[in-house]
Amino acid sequence: MHRLSLEYLESYDAGEFPEDISERYGVPREKIVNLNSNENPYPLPESILRAIAEEARQAARYPNPSYAELKRKLSHYTGLPEENIALANGAGELLSHLCTLFLEPLDRVVIPLPTYTMYAFLAMLRDASIAFVEPHGRELYPSLDEILSAAEDAKLIFLCSPNNPTGAAMVKGDIMRIVAGTEATVVVDEAYFEFCGRSVADKVREYENLVVVRSFSKFFGLAGLRVGYALASEKIAELLEKIRNPFCISRIAEKAAVKAIEEVEYFNRAKDRIIQERERLFNELQKIRGLKPYPSEANFLLVKLLGIPAGELMEKLYRRGIIVRNVSGLPGLKGDHVRITVGTPEENRRLISALREILA
Ligand SMILES: Cc1ncc(COP(=O)(O)O)c(C=O)c1O
Repeated sequence: MHRLSLEYLESYDAGEFPEDISERYGVPREKIVNLNSNENPYPLPESILRAIAEEARQAARYPNPSYAELKRKLSHYTGLPEENIALANGAGELLSHLCTLFLEPLDRVVIPLPTYTMYAFLAMLRDASIAFVEPHGRELYPSLDEILSAAEDAKLIFLCSPNNPTGAAMVKGDIMRIVAGTEATVVVDEAYFEFCGRSVADKVREYENLVVVRSFSKFFGLAGLRVGYALASEKIAELLEKIRNPFCISRIAEKAAVKAIEEVEYFNRAKDRIIQERERLFNELQKIRGLKPYPSEANFLLVKLLGIPAGELMEKLYRRGIIVRNVSGLPGLKGDHVRITVGTPEENRRLISALREILA
């Protein structure tokens, strides 16, 4: 018999996907504007596409489970020794491995809200006891003191910087005050780090209770290939490496990630364009009555809806072939909100004109 507690667990809601909206609303697939999952909207450079095609010839062969080339490149990219790096099939899988490493049933896990829902989901899978810390008043995140006081006797604390879905990044000093002020292991999810540039990765060798989780799905545009890594003390990195599936990253994904690091300048230029567009989108959204965008240091914007219920807005956007994420009802967020990924200039223009039309 399976664990009955699983019956109470809700599946992760990844939002709508282009194929589904295309079919349901009769919008041609190529007309869909997908601003749902915080992906990089720009195409991969030719060199990466060539490397993927070349590596596909070896698809009959297992990847080398040491992933030595990717680790070497990541060491160079992060400035940390390979012994402090652990790999997995996306940041999501590292978050799961961290719960496996640290959590016994009923261990206390602190999750400041609102944030990425997978932390609670994965902690629940370990039968942990979750202490959610909610923001007060008009704040979008709890204060440092509130997080620290919840941290007493905790085993694990999940921080997300920049935070999904708010886009706000924490001040480095604040994160380090939490790390220094607790016995718990502090997981800092830096999936969107490159868009803000601030990291605590340089502290993982000094603080055994600090783990940074990163992704190739956002800045590096490889969401479809599934590569993530953690930066941690040698001991924790070694344990994360020990418990992963030996072949967790396909050889095609490894090759693409290696090439992506070599092409970092291409991605930096894409990032600059995304940030420029984010600011333009923010300004345009601010001008539309009934919308309140929040400042963001990531590649998406959280928008509070003042004049229209989220369900109605989503339906009207879907009919026009535009997908954003409805994050209303997310614990810690009061009122209706949507999260909008920053797209290409053309995609953002289509979104803005649809919103102007709907909210006129
Ligand atoms: C904050 C955060 N962490 C982790 C992930 C998962 O990343 P990956 O695609 O590397 O599993 C996401 C994806 O949306 C995210 O928003």
